[in-house]
Amino acid sequence: MVGAGISTPSGIPSCRSPGTGFYSSFQHCDVPYPEAIFELTFFLHNPRPFFTWAKKMYPENYRPNVIHYFLRLLQDKGLLLRLYTQNIDGLERAAGIPDSRLVEAHGSFASATCTVCGRASPMEGFWAEVMGDRVPRCTVCTGVVKPDIVFFGEALPQRFLLHVVDFPIADLLLILGTSLQVEPFASLSEAPRSSVPRVFMNQEAAGSLAWRPRSRDVLQLGELVDGVDKLVELLGWTEELKDLVQRETGQLSGRDR
Ligand code: OAD
Ligand code: ZN
Repeated sequence: MVGAGISTPSGIPSCRSPGTGFYSSFQHCDVPYPEAIFELTFFLHNPRPFFTWAKKMYPENYRPNVIHYFLRLLQDKGLLLRLYTQNIDGLERAAGIPDSRLVEAHGSFASATCTVCGRASPMEGFWAEVMGDRVPRCTVCTGVVKPDIVFFGEALPQRFLLHVVDFPIADLLLILGTSLQVEPFASLSEAPRSSVPRVFMNQEAAGSLAWRPRSRDVLQLGELVDGVDKLVELLGWTEELKDLVQRETGQLSGRDR
């Protein structure tokens, strides 16, 4: 299970980190309270604050970091049963985690839908409008187009239900970079069998791992990159991960040219 904390080393501010979290940056905008930018009623009333934020999330702006590649290494080794992410930045996919192993629980910017007629909207046109500081509109009915990220109160994607089959057979649960505040995602942390170790790496303790700890929990608090480095070293994968990062980031920058 991962959250915004795995993408801060890629330069994407998390939501709730005091001071640097992007929710605090909305205090001076035309927004009643920060979470409103992800609420449908507010979005339909005033979509601009959401698109101001969306512009910063333009996929070309960010690259996966060593944490994403650590997850990729788990996948390459056949150890990743599934990756449940709350992030909508698409960096897990960019790091080479195949769709079949990924549950983007809060959706993504990979597709967008008209809020009035429900038609899928082409993404090139969508980004052209957002980058030009315009609200993207449906070419058929002129309704506002919303990317398929899950707003508060909206249903999670069908694939989220995979947790019903995944969690009972997991040997280990890794929880990285999340404040475990948003349901139903946060409750997945309680889904593994009680004999299954949970390894939580985050700046601070949070959620059920703070208020209902289990005897086999491992908490690695502090900077996530350091925690992941430490685990990778214990596993003896340091060189392998370095090689993977070099290979992949070389390829990514090669693609830019
Ligand atoms: P949060 O911003 O709530 O939490 C991120 C956690 O990561 C915090 O506990 C930070 O302290 C920690 N963190 C950040 N950078 C770190 C670093 N470099 N090292 C260690 N820890 C670090 O983000 P999420 O839990 O992902 O919803 O938030 C969940 C959902 O709330 C998001 O998916 C989004 C948001 O509103 C929607 O988009 C619907
Ligand atoms: Zn429409």
